[in-house]
Amino acid sequence: MISVNLDYSRPFIDKIKFQEAHKVAEEELNHVKNKTGKGPEWLGWRDILKDPNDALLAELDTLANQIRQKADIFIVAGIGGSYLGAKAVIDALSPFFPEKGPKILFAGHHMSGRYLTELVEYLSRPKPDGSKKEVYLNVISKSGTTTETALAFRILRQWMHDNYSDADKRIVCTTSAEGGALNKIIDANGYRKFVLPDDIGGRFSVLTPVGLLPIAIAGIDIRNLYYGAVSAFKEFENDASMVLDYVATRLALYHSGKAMDMIASFEPELAGMGGWMQQLYGESEGKNGKGLFPVLLGYSTDLHSVGQMVQDGQRNLIETFLVVDKSKHTLNVEADPEDTDGLNYLTGKSFHYINSKAFEGTREAHVKGGVPCISIHFDELNAENIGRFIYFCQLAIAIYVYYLGENPFDQPGVEDYKKAMFRLLGKP
Ligand code: PA5
Repeated sequence: MISVNLDYSRPFIDKIKFQEAHKVAEEELNHVKNKTGKGPEWLGWRDILKDPNDALLAELDTLANQIRQKADIFIVAGIGGSYLGAKAVIDALSPFFPEKGPKILFAGHHMSGRYLTELVEYLSRPKPDGSKKEVYLNVISKSGTTTETALAFRILRQWMHDNYSDADKRIVCTTSAEGGALNKIIDANGYRKFVLPDDIGGRFSVLTPVGLLPIAIAGIDIRNLYYGAVSAFKEFENDASMVLDYVATRLALYHSGKAMDMIASFEPELAGMGGWMQQLYGESEGKNGKGLFPVLLGYSTDLHSVGQMVQDGQRNLIETFLVVDKSKHTLNVEADPEDTDGLNYLTGKSFHYINSKAFEGTREAHVKGGVPCISIHFDELNAENIGRFIYFCQLAIAIYVYYLGENPFDQPGVEDYKKAMFRLLGKP
């Protein structure tokens, strides 16, 4: 299960403002449900949960198992919504130092020539036993024209064809049903293709083949993930109070002059989840001078870098903690007869307990310092709960952005850097 704790933001919110925000949020939820808000043609991320496609899940699983058995390396080439969701789920649920299964690498999410050069060199280096690495590639781009991804794909595709006679079987593409340069390349080469439906935008696409194929290849149960989201969908269709309370709180805080939402976790495996949330929120709400700027923080590491600023800097912040309540891993502090490091007071305590006290202490300090705190809790970190969390965030941001009077599903501002870059590069 997931839950939300709003107790540490209440002291900062005017009750009447919260109630007003709640009322409007309820109306906006109905616009989402009835497809009567802005961008109704982009609500497919809800439809796929209303009517799950088990055949597609099975097809993705079968392919993932085949690739898992053969691959040493699986490269995901994509940017923004085309890779952040997969990375988030894989990081959250995979061991930090995996011994089994293909190594998942990412490309096409920036334009570093050094990165691509070193990636290709790494792929080309034989394994310790002298044999060739078995590499598979999934290029993901809804538009099929995104420069970062297209450039990486050009280099990696060439490398794949230079190195494997069956390269066309090792390259899988995920894109829209038609249009875009990627579809032309697929048609010319016969690569296997999965479709991202037109009515689902990139940052809402983690529960489509965009996210599900890489996640399955990482060995994660995509049915549990998917059906976690389905159960959240069903729950919130009946009773969305958890989402509405969260949205109304965030809105009331925004309207009280807050400018930034710091997404923070004490669990390093949730950094990717924070990154996914950062894009989902940032690209959806940052429009026409509005929105809370989502900032990603990893604690307790960042308490030793920007902690001072959070505690004592400009008071325009709110903080959203991602918290794991129960941990499967029990590492306990053992007694040291010398106690030279003075840590014996922690003897017998688990690292999870110590980390949870660090969270509670940080929240207490930040609230005292004037930072309203929200926490989203996973009772356990598993695929089902992550599925629930994904749908929770998607629904919450859609309602929130409708309240701001904007379209949550477009990103017109992203075009501006592209236009300037293309002009400077002399694109015809
Ligand atoms: O959410 C979005 O729509 C964007 O972040 C896109 O996912 C990102 O720009 C990549 O686009 P594409 O999948 O077309 O390459």
